[in-house]
Amino acid sequence: MNHTERLPRNRTYLMCPPKHFTVEYAINPWMDTTVPVDAVLALKQWEILRDTLGDLGHQVHVLDAVAGLPDMVYAANGAFSVDGTVYGARFRHAERSAEADAHREFYATQGWSFAGPQHINEGEGDFAYLPAAYGGMVLAGYGFRTDPAAHAEAQEVLGRPVVSLRLVDPAFYHLDTALAALDDRNVTYYPGAFSAASQRVLAQLFPDAVHADRADAEAFGLNLVSDGRHVILNTEAMAMGDKLRAAGYLPVHVDLSELKRGGGSVKCAVAELRG
Ligand code: ARG
Repeated sequence: MNHTERLPRNRTYLMCPPKHFTVEYAINPWMDTTVPVDAVLALKQWEILRDTLGDLGHQVHVLDAVAGLPDMVYAANGAFSVDGTVYGARFRHAERSAEADAHREFYATQGWSFAGPQHINEGEGDFAYLPAAYGGMVLAGYGFRTDPAAHAEAQEVLGRPVVSLRLVDPAFYHLDTALAALDDRNVTYYPGAFSAASQRVLAQLFPDAVHADRADAEAFGLNLVSDGRHVILNTEAMAMGDKLRAAGYLPVHVDLSELKRGGGSVKCAVAELRG
């Protein structure tokens, strides 16, 4: 197949090591509190992900893990930034609410313009940004975690159009389990995770999207991080890697089997800082 060359853009990311990672409560269908997490393996896998991003030329900031916040490794949920403005998170579940403070502190010390939210939203878990789609567009998920009122709030804070998409399958409870930005203008998604109306919206906005199937989504193949060329995704998601290669991207697989026990993978562990 012929594609214009997919060009990478250097990124800045924020990650938090799984130092205190456990599955001690269950707030999504992937979490099973009866199966112990391998803490040593979790940390090793996380370090490989961090080094993979660094080796590709990206800058990775690291947020200190806080004891008592086992889900803090899913750094994508802590905030959402666009062009130097940060829209802070407000978690749905009390177990995670203190994570938002740690993220706010990070952005404060880095001198970002930070807007605290009124409405429940889980940062990049439910928000994605496409800088070159329609002049700069935010995609936002709701149905399980983020309150749709937060979509309007994000639009006011960020000054970019926000398109609301309804998630309908509890296995794909965050937008980033069902859809990902592949570059500045294109996305990949699993249609079945969205309501019929939201599927029509996505088809209208993104005629060139790479479509994934349920097996790809269940392997967390959509929970990916792309720099526009290299697409980092879970090892289990080999079929998804083939679809991305066919579309001209370069899949880079990393094993995040332990983070999957908490209901997340690559994207959940990586927040992008868009300065
Ligand atoms: N256990 C976490 C939760 O249910 C997983 C978060 C995954 N993060 C993500 N960006 N999808 O909240």
